[in-house]
Amino acid sequence: MSNKVGIDKIAFYSPDYYIDMVELAHARDTDPNKYTIGLQQDKMSVIPVWEDIVSMGANAALQIIDDKDRESIDQVIFATESSFDYSKSAATYIHNMLGIHSGAKSFEVKQACYGGTAGLMAGFDYVRANPERRVLVVAADIARYGLHTSGEPTQGAGAVAMIISSEPKILSIDAQSFSRTDDQYDFWRPSHSPVALVDGHFSNQLYADSFINVFQQAEEALGTDLNQVKALAFHLPYTKMAKKALTALSDAETKMDEKMRARLIEDWQEQLNAAIVYGKQVGNTYTASLYISLMSLLKESDSLKAGDKIGLFSYGSGSVSELFFGNLVEGYQEQLEKVSGQKDLDERLQISIPDYEKYFGDRDLEYEANIDFEIPTDYVGFYLAKIDEHRRYYDFK
Ligand code: HMG
Repeated sequence: MSNKVGIDKIAFYSPDYYIDMVELAHARDTDPNKYTIGLQQDKMSVIPVWEDIVSMGANAALQIIDDKDRESIDQVIFATESSFDYSKSAATYIHNMLGIHSGAKSFEVKQACYGGTAGLMAGFDYVRANPERRVLVVAADIARYGLHTSGEPTQGAGAVAMIISSEPKILSIDAQSFSRTDDQYDFWRPSHSPVALVDGHFSNQLYADSFINVFQQAEEALGTDLNQVKALAFHLPYTKMAKKALTALSDAETKMDEKMRARLIEDWQEQLNAAIVYGKQVGNTYTASLYISLMSLLKESDSLKAGDKIGLFSYGSGSVSELFFGNLVEGYQEQLEKVSGQKDLDERLQISIPDYEKYFGDRDLEYEANIDFEIPTDYVGFYLAKIDEHRRYYDFK
């Protein structure tokens, strides 16, 4: 058994197109401040029809995988709630596209936005028991509520890929974590529906309540050790949600000395500015969101350093949540320099609201039995090339 497992490598991917939230607000006859201040969202990634969860996940993983990983990854775990197949897992495509050895297992996991964390935890357990081996966890989603809905400004698309090892170069993870299941209908997507159904205000409440619940469990177990936590990364359905959770915590009953709690929350609010930089420009990416927040925190904070302890709060509607902790490993910044960040977000192309609406409608083409997709000449990466008798075929360019 190895105790020192954690995230060895991590990268994210979000499609090349985005819309500006002020333009969306104008198109929806809404005060732009509701989106930019009320929800704290500036931009939203838009996915074209020739990309999907598999191509996004592969584009994230391609940034980090090397030949040593291809030989030592024993499990490919794909977390998503945007699955296009009830049987064949998205992980099987990724396994093939990345050239991972055939002795590896591949499967998909689901529990709303918590799925990525479920995959990660399963990966940690495997590597603890098999310290020489690795696990690839991919989390990818397309957040869809529908045009002209109240959830529309909280859509988005993206993926994260993480390699777990017993010699992590980024974050070593503590074995103890704090979780909660609460069977509720705050957000759900019945199998026949292409968009999510949501009780929006209740979902906000449940997120905040869940955060307080797992925080209280952590406080009970860790006591004053919690003071060592320098920053938190959050699941970000929209970035204001994390701020709302911290505000709810400052109003909640906890065992901590009030002054100490106020100081901790102030520090975490400060670090939150770094943890939300990417989420503000991408939108909700469901299972990938927490890990995009983690990357944003680690790449954009100028005060964190190796050895610092950070916390991660995972929330998935329905609902399951988990709070866990890890320590930043010496040299983590250099590892992160090699992968996607602000520069990639800056290089995206802004599209008009009518074009976004067209791409939104085009996703229904996925239900066709046969279709070839036309992709732009300047596109680089994995893409969905065609659907042939309901079978998906991917290509790389
Ligand atoms: P809404 O009813 O359209 O908006 O729904 P609102 O009236 O609640 O306003 C939003 C905020 O903007 C409020 O701030 C307003 O005060 C403010 P708050 O009071 O909450 O801090 N506001 C303004 N601010 C400045 N100037 C203005 C202005 N007008 C209003 N002029 C809602 C918003 C998020 C509910 C909706 O978009 C929605 O349903 N989204 C989807 C659900 C969601 O994101 N829930 C979050 C928690 S659940 C979760 O995280 C899980 C999830 O990721 C799914 C999964 O697990 O798979 C969603």
